[in-house]
Amino acid sequence: MDVVIVRDYEEMSDRAAAIVVRAIRQKPDLVLGLATGSTPEGLYQRLIEAHRKDGLDFSRARSFNLDEYVGLAPDHEQSYRRFMNEKLFEHVNIKPENTHVPDGLARGLLRHCAEYEDMIRNAGGIDLQVLGIGRDGHVAFNEPGTSLGSRTHVTALTRETIEDNSRFFDSPDQVPRFAVTLGIGSILEARKCIVLASGAGKADAVRATVEGPITSAVTASALQMHPDTVAIVDEAAAANLERTDFYRWQQENWDRIADKL
Ligand code: F6R
Repeated sequence: MDVVIVRDYEEMSDRAAAIVVRAIRQKPDLVLGLATGSTPEGLYQRLIEAHRKDGLDFSRARSFNLDEYVGLAPDHEQSYRRFMNEKLFEHVNIKPENTHVPDGLARGLLRHCAEYEDMIRNAGGIDLQVLGIGRDGHVAFNEPGTSLGSRTHVTALTRETIEDNSRFFDSPDQVPRFAVTLGIGSILEARKCIVLASGAGKADAVRATVEGPITSAVTASALQMHPDTVAIVDEAAAANLERTDFYRWQQENWDRIADKL
């Protein structure tokens, strides 16, 4: 996994946006894997800006979100479908029918999970997957202990995740207990992944993800097996990493050979 350490949230968002913008320009019908949460909001703002100011064209792009709460309607204030509509989709020219978020109200959730996987496969697979990480090292809603080979599935949320996400609800009681999520095995099939993390609260998770053993106790650590993943982390989130000298050195030297790659 490549690690890029940046100053702060703003720089993390700038770096991530540069990668996504380049990918859409290179492949206008890009299949994007998208995450919700606080972490990618700055990235989405920058994509909106790139659309408004530089004409970044989403008209052929397709997107698949990682997860959705079970039991929330698409227009529920805290549903991930609504989050994506409000934070990105309504502000760029992506076609609504080309955006996909698991349906938390689907009848026959297990069948829905299998169909979601089929839809991704039929779209040609995810070209570029955007990921945040939870404080316990989860990606999507793959909580500690989830099989590293898992496919899209229904999962219970841990108490920690419920507590973390309760900031968006009136109380922890209102946070749904279950979600539909892409599995780790599904995420590892994306051609490229960018993992974003910002703030001291993520420092343990970043260390375990990047330098810890590959373990289902930290599902993000499975990304160490992925051939093309870059972690873009700010200084606070990178605080517990041990090999920072190497990451910085590699980053500084990278530019020298970038045009030969
Ligand atoms: C959301 C998702 C989650 C979040 C993670 C971090 O679609 O997949 O794994 O990325 O919980 O959330 P934030 O960014 O709010 O700290």
